[in-house]
Amino acid sequence: MELKLSKKITKPDFQGEFTASILAAAASPDIISFAGGLPNPVSFPVEEMDAAVHKVMQEKGAVALQYSNTQGYQPLRAWIAKRYEVLGVNDVVADDIIITNGSQQALEMVGAALIDPGDKILVENPTYLVALQSFHLFDPEVIPVQINPDGIDCDKLQAAIDANPEAKFIYVIPNFQNPTGLTYSREVRERAAEIFKNSNLLVLEDNPYSELRFAGEGGKSFGYYLGEQCCMFGTFSKIVSPGMRIGWICCRNKELKAKLLSYKSTADLHTNIFCQMVLAQYLAAYDLDQHIEKTKVLYKQKAEFMMDCMRKYLPEGVTFTPTEGGMFLWAELPDGITAVDLYRAGLKRGVAICPGDPFYEYERNVRTFRINYSNSTDEAIETGMKVLGEVCSELMAK
Ligand SMILES: Cc1ncc(COP(=O)(O)O)c(C=O)c1O
Repeated sequence: MELKLSKKITKPDFQGEFTASILAAAASPDIISFAGGLPNPVSFPVEEMDAAVHKVMQEKGAVALQYSNTQGYQPLRAWIAKRYEVLGVNDVVADDIIITNGSQQALEMVGAALIDPGDKILVENPTYLVALQSFHLFDPEVIPVQINPDGIDCDKLQAAIDANPEAKFIYVIPNFQNPTGLTYSREVRERAAEIFKNSNLLVLEDNPYSELRFAGEGGKSFGYYLGEQCCMFGTFSKIVSPGMRIGWICCRNKELKAKLLSYKSTADLHTNIFCQMVLAQYLAAYDLDQHIEKTKVLYKQKAEFMMDCMRKYLPEGVTFTPTEGGMFLWAELPDGITAVDLYRAGLKRGVAICPGDPFYEYERNVRTFRINYSNSTDEAIETGMKVLGEVCSELMAK
């Protein structure tokens, strides 16, 4: 018997295994892990959700256990539409929202709906590795555009669009980007919005982290500047619970919305209706802002403690960009040491970081790496950073 299990993927080194091995190693209980991207479970509203489950089962149990519609539970979509006012987008209605199985499903859905093999798409460089992996399932040519500490490099963006006028979309994460933690400044947002307006690009804005801002002031969504040219992804994973797997796409372009719904109805019919109803009940009964406030206090303390420890324990030459929110810090090693060197040596000493490599389309053996601070105790942060500092010094002395 010879099973034919191969499938052509143009980018075979796409690091699925590398990423899986990092996450597996990092999940071991003996490892202090700054490699993953988990919210802190202390922030989960367990009792409130318990009450919401009971209420849904008592009042609408049969609906919650039945098949449902593809677009998602209307009260939940209405709640999300209203929430867009926080981002300066006031004209979103429930009908623009499609509930997805986490925002990760949104990435796959747009890939399936839009990418033909060989199509050009633009992304930030670096960008969220799962977005790269999802898009690569459909064999695009990915064109990375550099991001700077104040957001996407607008000169390079314009040059990339000029050189690739046929590109279909750009995928951006303007707030506390994963992996870099960077946020677009107002100037960059406005300039990039002008550039997009003058292009034929659909703008896919992924925004899991903007509500986790614990200092400074946030900016407006590209949806504010661009209307239906911008499709916005969101998620409850970082502000309520990742396990419920509830995300969404806000799509104001009717043609694209129909394509996305058609794909989703084939892929999974609908997102778990029980979870959608429980979440909608939770949002109706409790003040989400109060809940997010508590999470922000926790993450601010974690971020500041992590940054203090990095300043204290990492040797001179290792740099990082401070952050005002989200869950990640982005650091860079001096010339001559790669992030994979640090990952391997750190792991031997029981501490995991996430090397930058899988977040880049082309670059390998990079010196940048990602540090997650949301899900470690202070003790683990201090011990882990001390060890990483020693490991960096040893690698630098070689
Ligand atoms: C930028 C970005 N997009 C999407 C996701 C996926 O989130 P979820 O599928 O849990 O909604 C994440 C998760 O870490 C992320 O960082």
